[in-house]
Amino acid sequence: MNIVLGVSGGIAAYKAVSLARLFVESGHELHVVPTADALRFVGLPTWEAISRNPVTTSVHDNVPEVRHVGLGQRADLIVIAPATANTLAKMTAGLADDLLGTTLLASTAPVLVAPAMHTEMWQHAATQHNVQTLRNRGVHFVGPDIGRLTGNDSGPGRMSEPETIFAAANSLLDSLPSQQETLDHPTADLAGLRVLVSAGGTREPLDPVRFLGNRSSGKQGVAIAAAAAARGAEVTLVAANIDDSILATAGTIRVLPVGTTADLDKAMRAESAQADVVIMAAAVADYRAAEIADGKIRKEETNDSTLTLTLVENPDVLRGLVSARKPGQLIVGFAAETVQNDDELLERGRRKLARKGCDLLALNAVGWGEGFESDHNELLILGSDGAVLQAARGSKTQTAHALLNAISTTRAGRVS
Ligand code: CTP
Repeated sequence: MNIVLGVSGGIAAYKAVSLARLFVESGHELHVVPTADALRFVGLPTWEAISRNPVTTSVHDNVPEVRHVGLGQRADLIVIAPATANTLAKMTAGLADDLLGTTLLASTAPVLVAPAMHTEMWQHAATQHNVQTLRNRGVHFVGPDIGRLTGNDSGPGRMSEPETIFAAANSLLDSLPSQQETLDHPTADLAGLRVLVSAGGTREPLDPVRFLGNRSSGKQGVAIAAAAAARGAEVTLVAANIDDSILATAGTIRVLPVGTTADLDKAMRAESAQADVVIMAAAVADYRAAEIADGKIRKEETNDSTLTLTLVENPDVLRGLVSARKPGQLIVGFAAETVQNDDELLERGRRKLARKGCDLLALNAVGWGEGFESDHNELLILGSDGAVLQAARGSKTQTAHALLNAISTTRAGRVS
């Protein structure tokens, strides 16, 4: 599971190191988000070494990864230990002036809080009021215990022991529906929507037996079509050269088979007139043969050991759909890029987004060994302004649902 451990500035921060270790040793992916004050008690290298992940307090670091919301969006659970009176007050007010604040606001994951402060501060009406407000919002609390505090004081306010917080976190995680349950029983949040998806790869004939094509299997597009149907949408899948065994995984949806880019263009133009959402997941052949040979191209008819093909450019289907977009229609493009690193991926994606003019762009890295034919995928989903709305990783069904979530959120943003 993906756990975010928020650490605020109290002496009990040193005990949160043991808690972090318990999470990591039990196999969880841990991201520690300390406040600036917490780093005065336990330094950054300690958190990085224990969590095995980079650690920062600021919303201005790792901006291309959109870390200020990404950590919260991906979290399965957020634990705040220790939570000072100040942090409880900031959580209650929804302040977002540091990475912990933005992470909390960007997350729908359950939150477990382990308060730690002096007795007077814990019992103060302001703190008790904040605790009650947070409880009413569904935030879970563990502790504080009664015991030894900083200096010679003792009383209620001592942070629960790391093992106790760990046990409370595990029982919260156990009560979450599993990812598989969520995938098996999705909500019908797309009911009433007409979704048009293209998938697979177009092929351009060279002669009666040969074609120019690409390695797209259609798995990601078919998974999107199936996930949209499972969420109540009325789905049409324009399938370019997809194997029957893969198409079968989509269940009973309307499928229109196509071969070439021209076929795909025609089908998408006709169908998009009725669609609320159009998703261009197909890998489109950009060029076709200037002339298709009537008979098989034979070696004996060529003069030397080379063969020159003249290719002409195909229409850009996505750009055509964008320029014919009807009011309220949401259009999603895909971009598969061969790149060296994430920065280059984002830069290329943003340029493509601007060129295509679509509302969302699902971006992934491909290469000789990644992206195609596999059952797993990694997508960065960009909004129309180029911001990363979501970073999704997992089975193609999981990334399909992540894309549909981004579509739902974008549509909701337009309405409200
Ligand atoms: N696309 C399209 N028509 C084309 C080429 C691409 O509709 N002739 C769509 C794809 O379905 C995808 C998006 O445009 O949604 C990006 O496709 P991609 O192949 O990554 O981009 P290209 O425009 O072909 O640019 P390049 O190959 O130069 O990266």
